[in-house]
Amino acid sequence: MRLLVALLVLCVSCGTPKPPAPPPPPRQVDGWQREIAPFEATDENPDAHIVEVSLEAAVNVFDRGGGKLTPAWSYNGHTPGPLIRANVGDEIRVHVKNSLPEATSVHWHGVRVPNAMDGAPPHTQAPIAPGATFTYSFIATDPGLFWYHPHSDSAAQVGYGLYGALLVAPAEEPANAGDETVLVLSDMFLSNDGGLGDPRSGDNIGDLFGREGEVLLVNGRERPTVKARLGLHQRFRIVNAAKTRFFQLEMPGHEFIRIGGDGGLRPTPLRTSSLLLTPGERADVVVVPHGTPGQKIPVKWVAFDRGYGTTFNRPPLDIFYVELVASDGREDGALPTALRTIEAISAAGASSRNVELTQATVGTQAQLGINGVPFAMATPLQAHVNTTEKWTVSNKTDWDHPFHLHGFFFQVLDDPRFPDNEWKDTFNVPAQKSRTFLVRFDDRTGMWMFHCHILDHAELGMMGMVELMP
Ligand code: C2O
Ligand code: CU
Repeated sequence: MRLLVALLVLCVSCGTPKPPAPPPPPRQVDGWQREIAPFEATDENPDAHIVEVSLEAAVNVFDRGGGKLTPAWSYNGHTPGPLIRANVGDEIRVHVKNSLPEATSVHWHGVRVPNAMDGAPPHTQAPIAPGATFTYSFIATDPGLFWYHPHSDSAAQVGYGLYGALLVAPAEEPANAGDETVLVLSDMFLSNDGGLGDPRSGDNIGDLFGREGEVLLVNGRERPTVKARLGLHQRFRIVNAAKTRFFQLEMPGHEFIRIGGDGGLRPTPLRTSSLLLTPGERADVVVVPHGTPGQKIPVKWVAFDRGYGTTFNRPPLDIFYVELVASDGREDGALPTALRTIEAISAAGASSRNVELTQATVGTQAQLGINGVPFAMATPLQAHVNTTEKWTVSNKTDWDHPFHLHGFFFQVLDDPRFPDNEWKDTFNVPAQKSRTFLVRFDDRTGMWMFHCHILDHAELGMMGMVELMP
């Protein structure tokens, strides 16, 4: 018997591989993001490199927390629509069914799609009529957090709740970035009886000021809580999906370490105690939670001065809470000091273009435009494939405008918030100031829109097109 045991021990220690180590205990406590996590899309395709999703846009209600039913227009009954996850290089196919009472489309904000997949009717496709369907398909060429939203009657449709996030994972994540949560920030404007607010409220003045909703949402919930263990990094992938509201975030006693933005990781981490996201912008931030277990730290909305009347009498508001959980002895090591190498776009041979953001009064009505012309009367700018352009965007108005160009990332040369070659597709142009960026056009010919991402402003005329030609 003893001999047998000895032989067995011998045998185990010399011949067979070691049994696998038990998996490490989960880093965060059970249910740490239950209250805040976004609803996820179902991938209907078994191929590991194809993400196939169905989205139905319809009139719906959703629970913004505590059984508070909220009317909305939404994708698959959820506001925000389901989070679509893909890996860089995957093919994405999305079958959209329009069950709304009006035409719609889906624009893939920030994604370098073929022009016909850009979702900007009538220029890149016919609008998707009520009852009709349309399939978008494209390759996820770049890692990062992107988002999707209608480009038809967009101020109303986005305001009603039609938007969702698309997270494209890189081949490799930065070391020690921590536990990740996608946060879709938005707001909703409800009427006194709790119905959908009138998207035309305040008429022309409402358009000019931009309509902010009084209900602030994180993944469709009001003031939810995420739990975070002391010592472990918390990574927030944030998109501002509101149609007008700027989100300037502060977390008392904490800094945000910004490791990425619109176009994936940035070159180096940047620390800030105040994080700005204009409508359409994204941020990838790491927070190092500290304090005492049980403490709930608010993440606050703080009014950002985007022009007259935008900060007056507007105290900070809690958007969500980070509840601290006792350390279990584990800690995340330091973040890398270099995250990614991004080469500067060469300005050699670049042609210069001036784009003015303008305001005029026609009769008694304020009108916004590009180079003095509202979108309805605009002729497209023209550019050629495989060229570099230097755009100077001059804001001739008294309010800030977040500028967005479809289909291409660019590098801003003179914005202190983006001091290096970070890839951007949306950024703020302050009132009466100008900003310059370099963009490299590739060979995706077609009509590409650019506009202010305060969607009330886009609809009031601050939108243009650049036609990329052979
Ligand atoms: Cu997210 Cu034309 O925009
Ligand atoms: Cu604007």
